[in-house]
Amino acid sequence: MTPDQIRDYLKYYRDLGIETIYRSTSIPLEQTPLLSKPLIELPVLAPEGDTLQKIRADIGDCQRCRLCEARKKIVFGSGNETSPLVFVGEGPGADEDEQGVPFVGRAGQLLTQMIENTAAKEGIPVKRSDVYICNVVKCRPPENRAPQPDEMEICGQFLFRQLMTIKPKAICVLGATAMKALLNTKEGITKSRGQWQKWNGIPVMITYHPSYLLRQYNAQAKREA
Ligand code: URA
Repeated sequence: MTPDQIRDYLKYYRDLGIETIYRSTSIPLEQTPLLSKPLIELPVLAPEGDTLQKIRADIGDCQRCRLCEARKKIVFGSGNETSPLVFVGEGPGADEDEQGVPFVGRAGQLLTQMIENTAAKEGIPVKRSDVYICNVVKCRPPENRAPQPDEMEICGQFLFRQLMTIKPKAICVLGATAMKALLNTKEGITKSRGQWQKWNGIPVMITYHPSYLLRQYNAQAKREA
């Protein structure tokens, strides 16, 4: 890619709302011949024939942002890879970081109850294993802080590829971080929850994050969720 092509490419991404972009690690920059080969290789948003396996392989032993420094395991996603329903959380906590699986701690147990019990009440026998669950960022933010905008943008590109590959009929975003990552809205979660919006043509339902619902004083929110 020439510098002009790279500039156009970055402009195109900026128009889509993406400010930060990661460099593919398939060609280490220091080994890139300056004249004969592309200067750097940039990812495409939805590569043709993309699969979850390819996306995981592209992530590799990711060092694209500072979250790699303290993580134990990359938490890619789990569940039914052809599910019509995908849940998107914020980022792994301590339990998820240990196990490499999303939503396995206390918040995860509540999410499982929300999925299985709510559906059962409606007479729909949905199990957690029927849906796909992933997060905006795949590495645990230190002290469970919220992911920073550049971390969300870099890792969000893999999330977008996951969603475009699975092509669910609906996405449920859990909490403000996931809502921001997909819908880029400035609204608060309290105002937006319970509403349908769209991400790339796919209906998105916004609801509270299970960790928020675990706090005792949020019992009312729990009922609403
Ligand atoms: N909270 C999240 O947002 N994701 C997890 O995987 C666990 C807790």
